[in-house]
Amino acid sequence: MSISARPYIGSRDFYPDDMRFREWMFGVPRRICKTYGYGEYASPVLEPIELYTAKSSEEIVNEQLYRFTDRGDREVAIRPEMTPTLARMVAAKINSLTLPLRLYSIANFMRYERPGRGRLREFFQLNVDLLGSSSATADAEVMMIAVEILRSYGASDEHFMVRFSDRRLFDSFFSDLDRQTGRLVGRLLDKREKISSEEFDRALQEISTDPSLRDRIAEFISLRLEDLPPLAESGRLASDAVSHLLEVERLLADAVPKGVLSFDPGIVRGFDYYTGLIFEVYDNHPENNRALFGGGRYDRLLGIYGKQEVPAVGFGMGDVTLENFIRNHNLAPAEVAHPEGVYITLFSPELFGQGLRIASMLRQGGICAEVALEPTKKFGKQFEIAQKKGRRFALIVGEDEIAKGIVRVKDLQTGEQKDVVESELVSYLLPEDRIARK
Ligand code: HAM
Repeated sequence: MSISARPYIGSRDFYPDDMRFREWMFGVPRRICKTYGYGEYASPVLEPIELYTAKSSEEIVNEQLYRFTDRGDREVAIRPEMTPTLARMVAAKINSLTLPLRLYSIANFMRYERPGRGRLREFFQLNVDLLGSSSATADAEVMMIAVEILRSYGASDEHFMVRFSDRRLFDSFFSDLDRQTGRLVGRLLDKREKISSEEFDRALQEISTDPSLRDRIAEFISLRLEDLPPLAESGRLASDAVSHLLEVERLLADAVPKGVLSFDPGIVRGFDYYTGLIFEVYDNHPENNRALFGGGRYDRLLGIYGKQEVPAVGFGMGDVTLENFIRNHNLAPAEVAHPEGVYITLFSPELFGQGLRIASMLRQGGICAEVALEPTKKFGKQFEIAQKKGRRFALIVGEDEIAKGIVRVKDLQTGEQKDVVESELVSYLLPEDRIARK
C-alpha cells in the first residue's frame, strides 16, 4: 500500500516559493505593527479545552474544535483562534504588565470547517490587540492599523471596505429574543451574504415561528448611522453603543474616507466574548466575498481567569482571503516570485574551491550565494539550472577571470553581462539584492 503524499485535507504544505510569498505577506503587517509600537508574542498550539468552552463561539466549540484527551487524561484542543490564549497570557501576568498593552502575533490555527474558497482547516492569522483601554480612541487605533496594512500592500481605498457595528445594537434591538434564538439569528445575519434570500427565509423559519421577526431583521439591517440617535433616545437601541460608534466614526473621519468606513448593523460576529464595537474588512472584489479581517471589543473576557477585568479590542487577519485579495488586485511585487541572491557557475570542476571562496565573500557581505555542486556538468547545463531556479544573477567563475581578479556577472533577467572586480562584487550586487535590502 502506498501512502498519499498530499497534506491533510484543508491544510497546506509550504514549499520555498510559497514560503517566500508568505514571509512577504506577513512581513508587511509585521512592519506596520512595529511602527505602531506593538510587541510580538507567541503561544503553544495546544490549550486546555475550557479556554473555548467558557466563552468562545458555539459554532467553534461544537463543530470546529480539534479536541482530544492527552495521555495524562487532560482534555485539550488545538487553538482555533488566538483571543482566548491572549486573554489567558495577559491575565497570568496582569500584575507585572503596564497597560495599555499593544500586542501582535502571527500563528497557525485549526478549525474543522468544510474547506472551500477562502476557508481551510489550517490557516494563519495575524492578531493585533490593544488591552487596557475602553476608549473609542483604542478602537479607532486598531481599525486604523487594519486600513494601514492594506494600504501598505499598495491597495487603494477603492479595493476594500471596513464594515463596523456594535454588538450591543443587536442585543438591544432583539432583547426580547431568548439567548439561544438571539445567537442563531446573529449567526444567520453573519451568513446572509453567502446564502440566497430563500435559504435565509428557510433558515429563519427553523429558528423562530414569530412572523414579525423577518420584518424586524429587515428594519435592523437597513439602519443607517444617522438613524441610531433617535432609536437610542426611544430606548430601542443601547445608547452607550450609539454614542461610542459615533465617536469612533468621528475619530477616524480625517484618516479614512467615508466610502471605506461603512456602518453595517448586519455584522454580528459569532463570538460570545464580544461586548462592543465589532468590525470586518472586506475585499471589494466580488469573487472574494469572505472577510479579510474580523475583530472587535471584548471587555469581559479576561475576567474569566479570576483576575481583574481588562478592556480589550483587536482583530484577526487571515492569510487565505488576504492572499486572494493580493492576487485579485495584483499587489505582490514581481520579485517575490524569485529567490534572491546569485548562482555561481564554474567553468571547470577544479574551480569549485574558488567558487566556495567567492561565495563566502558574498555571504559575508549579506548576499545569498549558491554554488554549482556538479561542475562536471556542461557549463550550459549549470546555466540552465540557474535560470530555472529563477535567480536574478549567475556568476561565472573561470580560470582567466580568476587570474585577472574579476568575476563575470550575468543578469538573468536582462541577459546583460559585466566583468566586476572581485573586491567590488558585493557593492555591485548589494543594491539589487533583496536579502540585504530587508
Ligand atoms: P474570526 O473572524 O474568526 O475572528 O477570524 C478572523 C479572520 O481569520 C477571518 O476574517 C478570516 O480571514 C480568517 N479565518 C478564520 N477562519 C478561517 C478559516 N477556517 N480558513 C481561513 N481563514 C480563516 C477571530 O478569530 C477573532 N479571534 C479575532 C480577534 C482578535 N478578535 C479580537 N482579537
